[in-house]
Amino acid sequence: MDEPFEGKSPCRPCASGCIRGFGMMTSRQTLDLLRSYESRNVTFTEADGSWPIVWERARGVYVWDAEGKEYLDLTAAFGVAAAGHANPRVVRAGQTQMARLLHAMGDVHPHALKARLARELSRITFERWREESRVQSPKSKVNGRRAAAGTGKTIFCNSGFEAVEAALKTAMLATGKPGVIAFEGAYHGLGYGALNVTQRAHFRAPFRGQLREFGHFVPFPKVGQAWQKGNRAGARTFLSAARRKDLRAKGAFGAGERTVVAADKNVRAPALVGHSSLDAGELGECSLAEAKAVDAVESQIRRLLLRERIGAILVEPIQVRGGVNIPPPAFLPMLRRLCDEHKALLILDEIYTGFGRTGRWFACEHSGTVPDLICLGKALTGGFPLSACVGRADVMDAAWPPSSGEAIHTSTFLGHPVGCAMALAQIREIGARKLVQRSAELGGFLLSALPSMLSQPSPLCWVSRGVGLLAGVEVRLADGSPATAAVLRIVKALLRRGFILLPEGQYSNVIGFTPPLTISEEQLRAAVIALGAELHRYRVK
Ligand SMILES: Cc1ncc(COP(=O)(O)O)c(C=O)c1O
Repeated sequence: MDEPFEGKSPCRPCASGCIRGFGMMTSRQTLDLLRSYESRNVTFTEADGSWPIVWERARGVYVWDAEGKEYLDLTAAFGVAAAGHANPRVVRAGQTQMARLLHAMGDVHPHALKARLARELSRITFERWREESRVQSPKSKVNGRRAAAGTGKTIFCNSGFEAVEAALKTAMLATGKPGVIAFEGAYHGLGYGALNVTQRAHFRAPFRGQLREFGHFVPFPKVGQAWQKGNRAGARTFLSAARRKDLRAKGAFGAGERTVVAADKNVRAPALVGHSSLDAGELGECSLAEAKAVDAVESQIRRLLLRERIGAILVEPIQVRGGVNIPPPAFLPMLRRLCDEHKALLILDEIYTGFGRTGRWFACEHSGTVPDLICLGKALTGGFPLSACVGRADVMDAAWPPSSGEAIHTSTFLGHPVGCAMALAQIREIGARKLVQRSAELGGFLLSALPSMLSQPSPLCWVSRGVGLLAGVEVRLADGSPATAAVLRIVKALLRRGFILLPEGQYSNVIGFTPPLTISEEQLRAAVIALGAELHRYRVK
């Protein structure tokens, strides 16, 4: 390994400006250092250098590596950079705050931005939902009247899993019931509390001996996956005829719109599932298969509610890390109803789906479902580790007693001033640039463009689905088994071509699209064309 950098080689001027005293490193040097000094389970590196790249700087939808190569980021870095990487207004807000007050005292001596952000989070969640006539509040269906959901109150945390754990503690305190119903394929983070309700064995198995196992898992019903059984019954498209015409005029469908792809003639794939501009009305219809799936889950949950002491149902409105799994429209309203009937809290984990990702500020708005608690993170700040558990004020007050001078739940960096400043700027930016609407419109384009990859034969079959600028292309082999190795090869090939994408799902066979909401149609089209080319080029080795 070349002798590096720190304090040794002079600091060369570079476009992004390297940090004084730390010279530039090549990607190789960085990866060699990580191999030596970082826990080896963290950064996966391929010996042939095909994975990963080393990020040096990022701006908007682009990332540059240490060698100056440019990449189009279709991940927004786990959905964080919703308003673009290093959004200038967000960066300025953070820099200004950093120079003024870098750190305050969590639960002891607060700063003003924490109070402002708590108010803003209340405004864009519970207060806005109350105002929107289309959105029904929790009790409205049960009592036939609109309940005054009132304001929201926040517990600030650092990473997403901590927001989930704050919500779990809130539910325990508010209901006195320790059980939590969660879903197969769920990802709520990896802290010990969140791990109890995260379902993938890969993350849980090594620590099972220390888990408290208060989570009870039931199936997560999914739309658009009937193709796995060679059955087209579940195929649906939410695109209106006018929208399809509009998109066709824009060339979104490429050479020829097709709704079916299959290498094996017996495997038929519904191509479009979900649409970026779904609203409660459009979501009204449910296929028979979907209705049955929701009924089956409801029965299982009812049995658990009778048998166990369940204080909360915790769910992602769309499972992103689970493989971009979209539930039928009746799913969240059903959970809301059951929670109301059994005095349990509905906790929505919108850490991935929040802040416009699905074409609404929050994904629960597609089905008009108001939670008791909502967990937020990732895009909240655009890049600073700050997360939040926001709850209905009455629920929060029922759960948490006034502080006696020693908070029951806190942390050193709670409500970090820089994170709060960035979050306020990020929320303002998402609103001012109408990024939520943009996500809806471009999501429609993306979901229409993806099936244009379908025209040539391939040993692979795939189906695309999504809502707003959240989409997934699930890839399988002709025999229906998950194409895990193929997807890894394709994602690496795309990286070589300058496109950053990630595999998602239990079998890592779903290629996820969560780009910055500032991306353009042209950039999306380029990514889809590149993905189509790699899918077609793929040959079994
Ligand atoms: C839905 C959801 N919840 C929670 C988390 C955990 O967030 P963090 O990694 O910031 O702890 C994630 C992370 O991907 C997530 O997707």
